[in-house]
Amino acid sequence: MAQLPSPQSWQAEDSSGRSASPRIVVVGSINMDLVVRSERLPRPGETLIGQTFQEIPGGKGGNQAIAAARLGADVGMVGCVGNDAFGVRLRDGLNSEQVNTKFIVDLPGYASGIAVISVEDSGQNCITVIPGANGELRSSHLKLAESMFVGAGVLIVQLEVPVPTVLFAMDLARHAGMKIILDPAPAPSGHLQMQELFKVDVICPNETETEILTGIPVYDVGDATRAARRLCELGAKNAVITMGSRGALWCDGNDIGFVEAIPVNAVDTTAAGDAFTAALALRLYEAIDMDQAVRFACAAGALAASRHGAQPAMPTRQEVLQLLTKAS
Ligand code: RIB
Repeated sequence: MAQLPSPQSWQAEDSSGRSASPRIVVVGSINMDLVVRSERLPRPGETLIGQTFQEIPGGKGGNQAIAAARLGADVGMVGCVGNDAFGVRLRDGLNSEQVNTKFIVDLPGYASGIAVISVEDSGQNCITVIPGANGELRSSHLKLAESMFVGAGVLIVQLEVPVPTVLFAMDLARHAGMKIILDPAPAPSGHLQMQELFKVDVICPNETETEILTGIPVYDVGDATRAARRLCELGAKNAVITMGSRGALWCDGNDIGFVEAIPVNAVDTTAAGDAFTAALALRLYEAIDMDQAVRFACAAGALAASRHGAQPAMPTRQEVLQLLTKAS
């Protein structure tokens, strides 16, 4: 791992961060988000008149790739889009952010993934994903992309693509000597291969995912501490539990730390976790210690929550550094 600036020197850093040019590989989903905003979320069976509708590029993998690129990383992505108009727009969007899309496959006969998202004025949301082409990402696609793993530093994976493909990506990363970060979203309950999924350098679930994975409901820092220790016992070298507007708790299997969130006016929490994961991946690659890496990731997540949409809301490195400076 490269020796990089101490946290104190953040303010003096090149705001592009491109000098370090870490190579991050993202294997995951790419969706078009169909986003409806309304004053509040509808109850089951209720019809509401909403305020706006927008098509916004998203998908956990695509969001994390764009976030890492805006934060200064050299990023390559492996995924699948459909051979349709959404697929073209999603690929163009990644290209325009300098994400290497050479190994994103257009699948004839499949629709691109979509996510139907409702967002209420408080910023809370609910999401239903139809995977489409994402569900067809296979080990064979990853084999074609093996060259992208050689010399790369960190693999980021999530669970909106098939679990066997995620496990294969993790194997490729281990062979290439890369670190692995798993965003276990959506959390699988009782998946047969779950034990294998825990064998990562960092797992970063939110509170809901943590409860599904550990059986421990997370209401406060004490619960999060117990759950983070459990995630490490299950095989993760480090666990970082995101706790929304409260902050995040990390455990390295031994030490525990809690980082308070930086308060922002949250308008849409969609993809705040994706900004967090990408920022954490970048800072760990840069050998920043866990507490400072989580601080940086919390700032990235807060900025994403203060903006509308998924990919357009991902912050730049300069914006994160400015927020950290303002909050210190
Ligand atoms: O994490 C947010 C993302 O989840 C959205 O962009 C949506 O596409 C779903 O994948």
